[in-house]
Amino acid sequence: MPALVLLGAQWGDEGKGKATDLLGGSVDYVVRYQGGNNAGHTVVVGDQKYALHLLPSGILSPGCTPVIGNGVVVDPSVLLSELSGLNERGVDTSKLLLSGNAHIITPYNVTVDKVTERFLGKRKIGTTGRGIGPTYADKINRVGIRVQDLYDESILTQKVEAALDIKNQVLTKLYNRRAIAVDQVVEELLAYAEKLRPYVADTVLVLNQALEEDKVVLFEGGQGTLLDIDHGTYPFVTSSNPTAGGACTGAGVGPTKISRVIGILKAYTTRVGAGPFPTELFDEDGEALRRIGGERGVTTGRDRRCGWFDAVIARYATRVNGLTDFFLTKLDVLTGWEQIPVCVAYEIDGKRVEELPYSQTDFHHAKPVYEMLPGWSEDISKAKSFSDLPKNAQAYVKALEEMSGAPISAIGVGPGRDETIEINSFL
Ligand code: GDP
Ligand code: IMO
Ligand code: MG
Repeated sequence: MPALVLLGAQWGDEGKGKATDLLGGSVDYVVRYQGGNNAGHTVVVGDQKYALHLLPSGILSPGCTPVIGNGVVVDPSVLLSELSGLNERGVDTSKLLLSGNAHIITPYNVTVDKVTERFLGKRKIGTTGRGIGPTYADKINRVGIRVQDLYDESILTQKVEAALDIKNQVLTKLYNRRAIAVDQVVEELLAYAEKLRPYVADTVLVLNQALEEDKVVLFEGGQGTLLDIDHGTYPFVTSSNPTAGGACTGAGVGPTKISRVIGILKAYTTRVGAGPFPTELFDEDGEALRRIGGERGVTTGRDRRCGWFDAVIARYATRVNGLTDFFLTKLDVLTGWEQIPVCVAYEIDGKRVEELPYSQTDFHHAKPVYEMLPGWSEDISKAKSFSDLPKNAQAYVKALEEMSGAPISAIGVGPGRDETIEINSFL
């Protein structure tokens, strides 16, 4: 049972950080395989709260080696400040491995992200403004800068020149901005080289050797299934593949090595940024979910849009990821509602639809069809086993499991490590 993937089954912020940290003590490697510091993963250990953006959540488990895979985009200044922030809090980060093939988020990628959003006006995606999309665009356009380029000044200069050639034309002529100087970018990037050197490694080789030795490797996704560039609500998505296949390409590990894919699923739904969201609430229930669930972005501080659980999306996540299990989070947040609506299907132009429509136009027209499930009022935050939950909470979990197409193997009843009900072991 060597490799597991843990990923978001909705639009991100499902509680991946907590779930990864929970398993971190029992696995040998935790690997981020896509995304960058657009992610914000919260881990609560005792009275300490950590917000991780680029570092795998396994960094907080002393026995575990954290790895940033080739599929991740890395802002060196963010990585270094995240490392020093943890060091100041007494966390040992010396085991970190960083792929030499990971692409670098350069200052001009951040600039391009921000000006593009501004230019899109009301059609904007609502990105995190961290340069994610432009960096992946450079990668696909074959003008990206990789971590290994920091160790060859001449190649780095040529690559920055090539990347800025067109961008400076666009910045100056289209966006009315100042051109970015090649020398300045090269100088800034070179300043990171020696600081990053201790971590740079051939992570593909390391991970495959580890798997051959039967070590346990956990892949930690950023974002979520519906934010996937191929399988999400395009164009309102991020620019990488958080879905399970992304773990293979983003870490250089074959699909035959992966035996378990765990979808992290919030007991209701949230989304940050623009794009369709059929169960979104604009009333006091939405406000209450936001308040009780503390639904505010870890990265940008934006309020998260909130809505009821959407089983159509959960089924879709099961299918596109080949999920073997779900980790249901934040069940405690739903305590106190007399009845809890759950979206079981959509109505699209007068027709009932059971599965996520592939057409963007149809999805924009999707209205939720709700089934009402009875709520509970008892505090569930101390529940340690499934049988400790009130009958209606048990029934809610069972109903979600049946609708979603994979077993719910763990339930979160609070943000802390031990505020978890384990039903089936993941390892
Ligand atoms: P991630 O991006 O998927 O790692 O999720 P975030 O950290 O952005 O958001 C999840 C939030 O919910 C964090 O504040 C977590 O501490 C918190 N959280 C995670 N699991 C639970 C849970 O079961 N109950 C409660 N009340 N909070 C949780
Ligand atoms: P975690 O890992 C929630 C959203 C942004 C925006 C869209 C594109 O914490 O779940 P980007 O900056 O990636 O180009 O923005 O994706 N987004 C997230 N939403 N959680 C995240 O990460 C997100 N990362 C990106 O809000 O709508
Ligand atoms: Mg988050």
